[in-house]
Amino acid sequence: MSTMRHTDPVLPVLEARGLRLHLADRAGARWFRKAPRLEILRGIDLSVAQGETIGVVGESGSGKTTLGRTLLRLYEPTDGSLRFEGQDITHAREERLRPMRARMQCIFQDPLSSLNPRHRIEDIVAQPLLSFGLVRDRSEARGRARQLLERVQLSQSFALRYPHELSGGQRQRVGIARAIAASPKLVIADEIVSGLDVSTQAQILMLLREIRAETALVFISHDLSVVRALCDRVLVMHRGVVVEQGATDAVFARPEHDYTRDLLASIPLPERDPNWIGSA
Ligand SMILES: Nc1ncnc2c1ncn2[C@@H]1O[C@H](COP(=O)(O)OP(=O)(O)O)[C@@H](O)[C@H]1O
Ligand SMILES: [Mg+2]
Repeated sequence: MSTMRHTDPVLPVLEARGLRLHLADRAGARWFRKAPRLEILRGIDLSVAQGETIGVVGESGSGKTTLGRTLLRLYEPTDGSLRFEGQDITHAREERLRPMRARMQCIFQDPLSSLNPRHRIEDIVAQPLLSFGLVRDRSEARGRARQLLERVQLSQSFALRYPHELSGGQRQRVGIARAIAASPKLVIADEIVSGLDVSTQAQILMLLREIRAETALVFISHDLSVVRALCDRVLVMHRGVVVEQGATDAVFARPEHDYTRDLLASIPLPERDPNWIGSA
């Protein structure tokens, strides 16, 4: 660890206060007036520390993906504040964000569309190391990439393959290896086990459990059983606001908000042991 700041458990890695985001509604645009503004995020408070995993749940369209993108400053907030490692980045320009981007990473739902189809797996994993100047040259980067592949339990033989040659679960491992390559302080995972079969989901969640001590993890999912198995805290989103947040066990056992109760009732929890991915 380079400075005390990064290991201080009191200081959150990421902190959002009253975060708002308005986007133009292109569907509502007319030639005679500007596109109306949609309020996508309507005042979000969130804080996540190193070693902590927070789940973001909510029905489709509640704003989870947009929140993830805003936390990574892929959108500039309309209002509120966003701090990363203690620095205010709410309106920071890309030149200032650039050196921080190595320490804030994301993993997406569909790795096939986020992994360059023409690049070999080792180069995909090595890419952050090269683009953030964390290695001397490509050969060092490839060496590191192979270690990272081992970390996510992919054998050396995957290094020279291409994304389309891999299964969904294997591609998601590559996405994780790439995300952790630069030793990020914040990882945002958006629906990364959706669409995988249950045993592959369990393997991916086990991997996340192994990496979560080193980083702050924001785990977005509409699948409550997955969130319950992985997350320390959960935040329930509804129409761009957080209606409830708290320790995962408490929220699941005693949901306080009607919306959370409806969500728990409407999404059938599979007949799964809460420890289905193995106890932590
Ligand atoms: N680029 C955009 N421009 C306008 N509206 C958007 C944009 N991206 C998302 N939205 C709208 O924001 C709302 C939240 O979307 P999203 O964050 O994808 O929700 P979730 O991930 O919870 O399903 C939706 O109503 C969606 O239509
Ligand atoms: Mg989404």
